[in-house]
Amino acid sequence: MRLQKFVDRLPIMDTLKPRRKDEKSTYYEVELKEVRQKLHRDLRPTRLWGYNGSFPGPTIEAEEGENIQVKWMNKLPDRHILPIDRSIHNVAHQPEVRTVTHLHGSVTEPESDGYPEAWFTRDFRQVGPAFEKEVYEYPNIQRATTLWYHDHAMGITRLNVYAGLVGMYLIRGKREKAMDLPTGKYEVPLVITDRSFEEDGSLSYPTQPDDAGENLPNPSIVPAFNGDTILVNGKVWPYQEVEPRKYRFRILNASNTRTYRLSLDSGQPIYQIGSDGGLLSKTIKQEELAIAPAERMDVIIDFSKHKDSRIVLKNDLGPDAAPEDETDEVMEWRVNLPLSGKDDSRIPAYLSTIPSLRKNNIRTIRNLSLSGSEDEYGRPLLLLDGRMWDDPITEKPGLGDTEIWAIRNLTNFPHPIHIHLVQFQVIDRQPFDLELYNEDGRLLFTGPPVAPEQNELGWKDTISAPSGQITRVIAKFEPFTGDYVWHCHILEHEDYDMMRPFTVRRPKE
Ligand code: C2O
Ligand code: CU
Repeated sequence: MRLQKFVDRLPIMDTLKPRRKDEKSTYYEVELKEVRQKLHRDLRPTRLWGYNGSFPGPTIEAEEGENIQVKWMNKLPDRHILPIDRSIHNVAHQPEVRTVTHLHGSVTEPESDGYPEAWFTRDFRQVGPAFEKEVYEYPNIQRATTLWYHDHAMGITRLNVYAGLVGMYLIRGKREKAMDLPTGKYEVPLVITDRSFEEDGSLSYPTQPDDAGENLPNPSIVPAFNGDTILVNGKVWPYQEVEPRKYRFRILNASNTRTYRLSLDSGQPIYQIGSDGGLLSKTIKQEELAIAPAERMDVIIDFSKHKDSRIVLKNDLGPDAAPEDETDEVMEWRVNLPLSGKDDSRIPAYLSTIPSLRKNNIRTIRNLSLSGSEDEYGRPLLLLDGRMWDDPITEKPGLGDTEIWAIRNLTNFPHPIHIHLVQFQVIDRQPFDLELYNEDGRLLFTGPPVAPEQNELGWKDTISAPSGQITRVIAKFEPFTGDYVWHCHILEHEDYDMMRPFTVRRPKE
């Protein structure tokens, strides 16, 4: 479907209002509902699933240290709106529509972390084997940052998220408030997703891979999905009218598979101030911003010298892109609003102190591979350290332990790796001879370790692990014990079977 670009205004999600609030906690209720939402001027309303009936869902705002409770209420119909592959994860006998919400990047107790098998159906009628509680608790005991919430149900996360179950969650802090960053209407969330549509406006998602042989299950999971249309905050290629001044944008890539490489067609820089886990140590002037699924980038763009111009947020697809591919553009800014007052906001050079975890006593170094194999139908099956989801737990850090995870990517493409519970630091990446390794398991480095990108030097919860490289991250596992997960955040991989449980052990266990 060809849709005209930049004809719809960028929507801004509502901020969720609590049901009640006292000294101890703030309580919210969120209903997961089916909705028809207009995603483009020329597109009939699209059937979607949304938190509180909107895609993206309402933004939740918390203060550092505020104890937040959320009751995520499944009010969805019994039938899924997308094709479910029943050949994976024994979902054959499970209810078709199951949900569980994960607050991505948060430091949360395991019972509230959205464990994939803690799913539940409408009105909690049926619950998964790991289900613990109806009301989730988020203590917000981490630095101010941009988080997001999304569905995490076992084996169907890609479909539930594609149907619309995503939203933004901001933790705010005192220090940040004192920094004169752009705020109020000058602070704008940008939730970037890609989708494809049928002529009637409904979501299009493949039932089978392109090259499906006849013995493949139908429907069958696909190894990757790239939509042909880009949406921001739930509108197709929107535009935003802005004043000639500085704006802060909280960018989230909530796409299933697609990584973006963002830049401005005006040639002006993007000032990055934060990443997954909060403010960086200093502001980085970026020409281009690569953002993998689930990553967040907190940036400032200064429109003050661009009065009366139109600026397009571009997505570099690389030289191999097909000419008809329209996903090289994301949205447009029109600098046509009068300046409503003096712009007193600043782009501070120095932002925050990030204490290095490398000074800690390192308890364990884990060598973990990302590898490809094939399932019984000849479909690609990507695994973490050669193990399936159902295999016994192998990663068991003790409470308070600092560990290095050396992630060895043996496949031919990058995977965005996400670890629950922690914000980690990236140590380095080192290239090795992938062909040789895959031939006879010999590890031959082809170069020295390379320092992470500048914008990977802050706190991260999701990191791109490139092909033929060992990506080393360091994390301290605290303050909760119990079962969590780590996985590839390409949702088509996570669902089959590129996700593993891990346990944080109690001391002396
Ligand atoms: Cu964003 Cu385990 O998820
Ligand atoms: Cu992957």
